[in-house]
Amino acid sequence: MSRKPRTSAPGAAKGADASSFTLTDNATGQSWQLPARTGAFGNRLIDIKKLYGDTGVLTYDPGFTSTASCQSDITFIDGEKGVLLHRGYSIEELASRSDFMETCYLLLYGELPTPEQKASFDADIKNHTLMHDQFISFYKGFMRNAHPMAIMVGVVGALSAFYHDSIDINDLSQRQLAAHRLIAKMPTIGAYAYKYSLGMSFPMPRNDLSYPENLLRMMFSNPAEEYKINPVLARAIDRILILHADHEQNASTSTVRLAGSSGANPYACIAAGIASLWGPAHGGANEAVLKMLEEIGGVERVGEYIARAKDKSDSFRLMGFGHRVYKNYDPRATVMRKTCHEVLGVLGIDDPKLKLAMALEKIALEDDYFVEKKLYPNVDFYSGIILKAMGFPTSMFTVMFAIGRTVGWVSHWKEMLKDEDQKIGRPRQLYLGHKKRKYIPIDNRGHTDKKTSWSWLWGGR
Ligand code: CMC
Repeated sequence: MSRKPRTSAPGAAKGADASSFTLTDNATGQSWQLPARTGAFGNRLIDIKKLYGDTGVLTYDPGFTSTASCQSDITFIDGEKGVLLHRGYSIEELASRSDFMETCYLLLYGELPTPEQKASFDADIKNHTLMHDQFISFYKGFMRNAHPMAIMVGVVGALSAFYHDSIDINDLSQRQLAAHRLIAKMPTIGAYAYKYSLGMSFPMPRNDLSYPENLLRMMFSNPAEEYKINPVLARAIDRILILHADHEQNASTSTVRLAGSSGANPYACIAAGIASLWGPAHGGANEAVLKMLEEIGGVERVGEYIARAKDKSDSFRLMGFGHRVYKNYDPRATVMRKTCHEVLGVLGIDDPKLKLAMALEKIALEDDYFVEKKLYPNVDFYSGIILKAMGFPTSMFTVMFAIGRTVGWVSHWKEMLKDEDQKIGRPRQLYLGHKKRKYIPIDNRGHTDKKTSWSWLWGGR
């Protein structure tokens, strides 16, 4: 993979700061100066890029709770204040004044597009919505009851086997082609996963429709009838996509960056991101929220489940609550809550699950445990209710998240490839295992009671 030549002296890095931090090894009394860097909003960082080389010391930070893994210009989150900005524009303003295509352009290219740029971007995305005909056979390899996220991982990964003209990451035009293709094809891939589960034929995308309209039509149209687009629902889908478009270095985006850091092709990187998103602690939470509401069943059982969420010996967590970065209301949840009421109003749905969700939210927000730990509803708390009201099956919720997040993944992948500091991602570890041991022939090995049980071998903790 070719690397951009360094144009600036080390130390003249963006955000470089005249100050420094001192690291002292209390065992030896040795000290080192570590450079400081300051982000656009004034948060200071210790630059430890050279720490190991200079000192032989590693840092330990499981889950990267104190580590900035890269520099980025794309998205800013102030978790304490509940602020989310894309390229400097607030998520509230983008959700109310922009549309998803414009937000995609902004994330990918850094500025809001002019009318000509927007028209040309829209047209290019529409030009890539079709799937290669051979993909139909590929879908047929899956069981009809396969989870659509499993299909997404497989099909998106397989794009690299179909589109050889866009996997050379050293060619800028191929990078762009892959990026636009991914954004364009995700609704088609997702809708086909759903249609396949129903045993229905795959509808062709329609280029006279907008991105969310096309998605709705491919999901819900019936080949025997004309599908009528409800503009309020199309707008709600567009808003859901905007709200999920990017969220800085979350697990799936970090996965995409890590996969891409080895020079892997873009389709493989985005497939890795989809796999990471699927987990219930990340994008799978919207599906988990609905399952949880179904399990709780009624307002009268909220107390019981709140108590379970607080009980350390119970693995149950209140899904849709808490966030690694937000220690305040998730600003996306505020917009989503409003959209939720609009959609249910238009559809005339008086969903008891929404009432249950409201009761749960109210009780949790007043509970000492949730208040002290700053656990607020996150974006996934409401998105599932909206999607369910529109007719999306729960298994498709995370697919919708993936469709929206693709532009974020692609934008970070693009940014990473241009970053002069970029290296293959290769964390180190705190090794706590055996020191060197002598090999024992199998017949000489004695059994130690519990270490032969499967639960010990897999649990171990
Ligand atoms: N219910 C009950 N307790 C919780 C919850 C919850 N949802 N979330 C966190 N806690 C507790 C946790 O037990 C811990 O307690 P203690 O300090 O006593 O050990 C404390 O709060 C801190 O939690 P943590 O797990 O150390 O925090 P984290 O930053 O590692 O986890 C999280 C963040 C989102 C994974 C977690 O809050 C969670 O599992 N939430 C439920 C799943 C969910 O809604 N995920 C969607 C995230 S938003 C969509 C996205 O961007 O992906």
